[in-house]
Amino acid sequence: MTRIVYLNGDYVPAEEAKISIFDRGFLMADGVYEVTSVLDGKLIDFAGHLARLERSLSELGMEMPMSGEDLLAVHRELVARNGVVEGGVYLQITRGVADRDFLMPEGLAPTVVLFTMSMVLKGSPKAEKGLSVGLAEDLRWARRDIKTVQLLYPSMAKTAAVKAGFDDAWMVEDGAVTEGTSNNAYIVTRDGKIVTRQLSNDILHGITRAAVLKMAAEAQMVVEERAFTVEEAKAAAEAFVTSATTFVMPVVSIDGTVLGDGKPGPIARRLREIYIEESEKLAV
Ligand code: PDD
Repeated sequence: MTRIVYLNGDYVPAEEAKISIFDRGFLMADGVYEVTSVLDGKLIDFAGHLARLERSLSELGMEMPMSGEDLLAVHRELVARNGVVEGGVYLQITRGVADRDFLMPEGLAPTVVLFTMSMVLKGSPKAEKGLSVGLAEDLRWARRDIKTVQLLYPSMAKTAAVKAGFDDAWMVEDGAVTEGTSNNAYIVTRDGKIVTRQLSNDILHGITRAAVLKMAAEAQMVVEERAFTVEEAKAAAEAFVTSATTFVMPVVSIDGTVLGDGKPGPIARRLREIYIEESEKLAV
C-alpha cells in the first residue's frame, strides 16, 4: 500500500509529493518539526506538541499555517488513510520557497508536510533489554529549545555511537549531560532521586519529559531538575531517556560502564508503564 502524505493542502501518494529545490528547509534548514506518537490509532499529547510547535515557529518569526483544530484534523486524516495503529506522525513546516538569501524573506507561503510512520512502540524489544549509550561532546548550536530540522550534529553523533557499538549517545557540555541525540536524559541516584537537566536553551523541552515528570511526582517519586555530570551518571542506580517515539526507555550502560545489574531499573520500568497507561487514556 502506498503511503499517503500531506503536502500544502493535498493528500497525495508519497512518491508524488514534491517540493522545490529553493525551499528554505532544504537550503537553510529554515524550518521546524514535531513528531507525535500514535497508540491504538490515537494521538498522544497532541496539545503539547501543538504548543511547542507554535513556540518554535514564533522563535523563528513564522506563523502557524493553520489553526490547531485543522492541524489535528490533518493528523487524524493521515492516521486513518494510512491505517496507522501504532507509530507516529511527522510534521514539518518550513519558511517556504524563495531564491537563496541569508536575509529571511517575509510573507512566504510556508511549506507544510506531514507523513505517518508505522512503528512498534509499546512492545519495543529495546525496552526489555535497555539501551547502551556512548558519549559525544555537545557541538550543537545554542538554541536547542527550538525544534528545528537542523539535525546534522545529532545525526553524526548517533551514527558514531552506533559504529562504536552503542545504541545511542548522550551529549555532554562542560562535563555535564545535556540530552540524548533525540531524547531527554535522566538518571536515578542511589538514594532513588530522578535527576534530569532543568529546562533552558540547552535542551529541547520534551513533551514526553513534561508528562513523565508530572506522573513521577504524582507517584510520589522525587524529581530534581538540574544538570548531572558524566561521573554522577556512571555511578547512578539506573538511567533512562524519554521521547515521543521511545516513551520511557531504560538505559543500562553509559560509555561502557554498566549500571546496577545491567538490566532496566525498577523506576524506569514503572514510569514506562505509568506513561503508556496514562497516555492511552488521554489520547485523542
Ligand atoms: N525527538 N531532545 C531532543 C534533541 C529530541 O530530538 C527529542 C525528540 C526530545 C524529546 O522530545 P519529545 O518528548 O517531545 O519527543 C528531546 C524526536 C522524537 C525526533 O526527532 O524524532
